[in-house]
Amino acid sequence: MSTALSARNVSVSFDGLKALSNVVLDIVPERVTGLIGPNGAGKTTLVNVLTGFQAPDQGEVLLDGENIGGRTTFGIRRLGVARTFQSGRLFSELPVIDNLEVTGIGLGLTRRDAAAKAEAMLDWIGIAPLADRVAGGLPYTDERRVAIGRALMMEPRYLLLDEPAAGMSAEEADDLIRLIRRIVTEMKCGVLLIEHNIGLVLNICNHIHVLDSGEIIEEGPPQQIKTSEKVRHAYMGTQAEAGGPVL
Ligand SMILES: Nc1ncnc2c1ncn2[C@@H]1O[C@H](COP(=O)(O)OP(=O)(O)OP(=O)(O)O)[C@@H](O)[C@H]1O
Ligand SMILES: [Mg+2]
Repeated sequence: MSTALSARNVSVSFDGLKALSNVVLDIVPERVTGLIGPNGAGKTTLVNVLTGFQAPDQGEVLLDGENIGGRTTFGIRRLGVARTFQSGRLFSELPVIDNLEVTGIGLGLTRRDAAAKAEAMLDWIGIAPLADRVAGGLPYTDERRVAIGRALMMEPRYLLLDEPAAGMSAEEADDLIRLIRRIVTEMKCGVLLIEHNIGLVLNICNHIHVLDSGEIIEEGPPQQIKTSEKVRHAYMGTQAEAGGPVL
């Protein structure tokens, strides 16, 4: 039995548009797997499939060898697969600490245990001073760190991060890299990192997949992705033209 969260030949269509075609990808414990590709490539759709938010038209999602198709998002979260969203999605009226506590209670902790765990998690991430701030009033980058803290409640085995560095300064992105490294080494988590900041992806990922129009067009270690003609081609006319990340 393989220890991984895996997409096996996953396909998804929306009204005839192929968002994913036969995608194969493994997220492995203690490794950072990168997922890059132009806007609309299908990256978020793949995270939605892996976490039960979107049923695939074809293919399977395997968690440590077991098919988890048909389970609820909540059921998959309880099995140790957590995610963040591209758009934050915190409980905006609640204080930061409650955002984590509520998740702990949802995952089966008593109120007291959830409160203790939430406090320890904020401390571990280094954002304890934010505990009593209302989540909706946080700057974007703090909101992202809280979202990661919430996803890490109950120490998931797999963590899927959908563009966690979007809008961050270089310094904030460096902090995020350090945090992701600790999530991998200290929590032994398998991380999937979706990111448009190619420098960050090449820096931290052990293995990178490149999606373009729903298909994996390349995969391999950072060095291979960096020098891939196919990848360069996929990015031409999108990020490259817009002055964004160029490989
Ligand atoms: N619920 C939906 N209904 C219809 N079309 C959708 C839906 N979700 C995604 N799509 C379409 O599927 C394609 C893939 O979208 P997706 O959000 O997965 O891309 P992405 O790679 O995450 O893009 P981005 O980098 O902009 O976040 C796009 O063409 C998008 O418009
Ligand atoms: Mg997306």
